Amino acid sequence: MRAVLVGPPGAGKGTQAQILASELSIPKVSTGDIFRANVSGGTELGKRAKSYMDRGDLVPDEVTNEMVRARLGEPDAREGFLLDGFPRNVAQAETLDGMLKEMGTGLDAVLELKVDEDEVVKRLSGRRSCRECGRVYHLDYDPPAKEGVCDACGGELYQRDDDREDVIRHRLQVYREQTEPLVAFYEEQGVLVTIEAIGEVTEVTGRALSALGTGS
Ligand code: AP5
Repeated sequence: MRAVLVGPPGAGKGTQAQILASELSIPKVSTGDIFRANVSGGTELGKRAKSYMDRGDLVPDEVTNEMVRARLGEPDAREGFLLDGFPRNVAQAETLDGMLKEMGTGLDAVLELKVDEDEVVKRLSGRRSCRECGRVYHLDYDPPAKEGVCDACGGELYQRDDDREDVIRHRLQVYREQTEPLVAFYEEQGVLVTIEAIGEVTEVTGRALSALGTGS
């Protein structure tokens, strides 16, 4: 399956992408995760991306598109993938269409996660992420067993620089202006499916698998 997750910051895209990718045996390709790994590794790409990310703006398309092209060209993505955080505007979506056409394929589904903005702010302000393995927690909804320590790998948990309330508000504005138009774009292509992303994580996963036509 070749699928895309779309939804506002904090909708639970990363949380669901991790579970769905494992359920569907396809790699999760998260542009946010790739950028963050480059920032912490101090690479040229990371240096270019950091100021945009800290402000909550989109990294320029030419940088992002080339990064995705390289990732989708890797052997593990040949038979399918789940994109999380890409595309994020209509120009990126058109580029993705072109890349898939070159590969002789197309998207099977675009899954939209719907959550209201107050919930998003609550989710993002309580989020903590593992520096080592990237697992995501929430201080109230999904706390680690030991404060500040990842249950999965023992790594240190940290708060993302772009999870400050002023940056969260800006990211939401960027979402409304640049990313939300993708909903109509993919509806027109006949690949859009939408689910409510509220409730327990496992309930949302169940809705997602049914919407993708892969649930029991
Ligand atoms: P990115 O990392 O993609 O950030 P985002 O889209 O803003 O999404 P988030 O990671 O904030 O949220 P999420 O939906 O994954 O939620 P999560 O599962 O963590 O991008 C970061 C930056 O990179 C961008 O601002 C931009 O600068 C750059 N970038 C990335 N892609 C780009 C692109 N294509 N083009 C240009 N620039 C790009 O969940 C959030 C919290 O909620 C967690 O604490 C979680 O535990 C909790 N939670 C999850 N599900 C539930 C639930 N059902 N109930 C209660 N809590 C829940």
